[in-house]
Amino acid sequence: MRDIHNIVVLTGAGISAESGLATFRGPGGLWEGHRVEDVCTPEALAADPELVHRFYDDRRAALATVEPNAAHRALARLDAEWPGGLLIVTQNVDDLHERAGAKRLIHMHGELLSALCADCGDRGEWEGRLPPGTACGACDALSLRPDIVFFGEMPYRMDEIDAAIRNCDLFISIGTSGAVYPAAGFVQTARYVGAATLEMNLDPSLGSVYFEETRIGAAGTLVPAWVETLLQSTQSSPMSR
Ligand code: OAD
Repeated sequence: MRDIHNIVVLTGAGISAESGLATFRGPGGLWEGHRVEDVCTPEALAADPELVHRFYDDRRAALATVEPNAAHRALARLDAEWPGGLLIVTQNVDDLHERAGAKRLIHMHGELLSALCADCGDRGEWEGRLPPGTACGACDALSLRPDIVFFGEMPYRMDEIDAAIRNCDLFISIGTSGAVYPAAGFVQTARYVGAATLEMNLDPSLGSVYFEETRIGAAGTLVPAWVETLLQSTQSSPMSR
């Protein structure tokens, strides 16, 4: 038993799978029929902006057809009830964590419901279609693009994420293949600082070897059970796992 005060939760596409959103590395390695490099790189955006913008328009529109699942709701409950430090870091660009009620949340890979100005860097909420050539409200340049962190670009708020991991007692990874850095390396930082490490995934991730414990199964089942046990444990013996 270790005392647990500060928790960092990393989530990936697997946590939204039971809501009906496709994971990135599904059958054939395609994301909704596209290779990730054809829709998720600065080169792809430059080569075919119509395709890339339309792809994220479709993903944005699909948000209206899905709901948070039991795993999102359980993490929102943890956020509301955990008396210690907590940070949920998601690689997902959907809004299901916040719709479930999570507040202590960072979208490290951007958000579908946000637009980014490629000219001045301004970011703002966005709904509906975002055609290439849309004007930025801050600088008037015709350069709004989907606010998605493409391969080769720096994920958001890395300083805050790194500080939280270095200060955590428990690092848990849910529904991610461990294929994309820097997120895939967070577990190694957590191990380095002596945190407990736990993975929950449908199958062992590429980084499974770095976790002290791996629980195999669907997030919608595993996460609520884990949250329930964790919160119960704070009542019997304050803040221990
Ligand atoms: P992946 O599609 O690479 O991995 C999803 C993982 O979730 C797989 O290991 C599945 O086995 C697992 N999984 C599927 N259904 C599950 C369920 N119901 N419960 C638990 N686990 C389940 O998605 P990510 O690891 O999130 O980047 O991908 C990382 C990044 O690669 C994404 O953020 C995206 C992509 O390119 C950007 O958009 C920049």
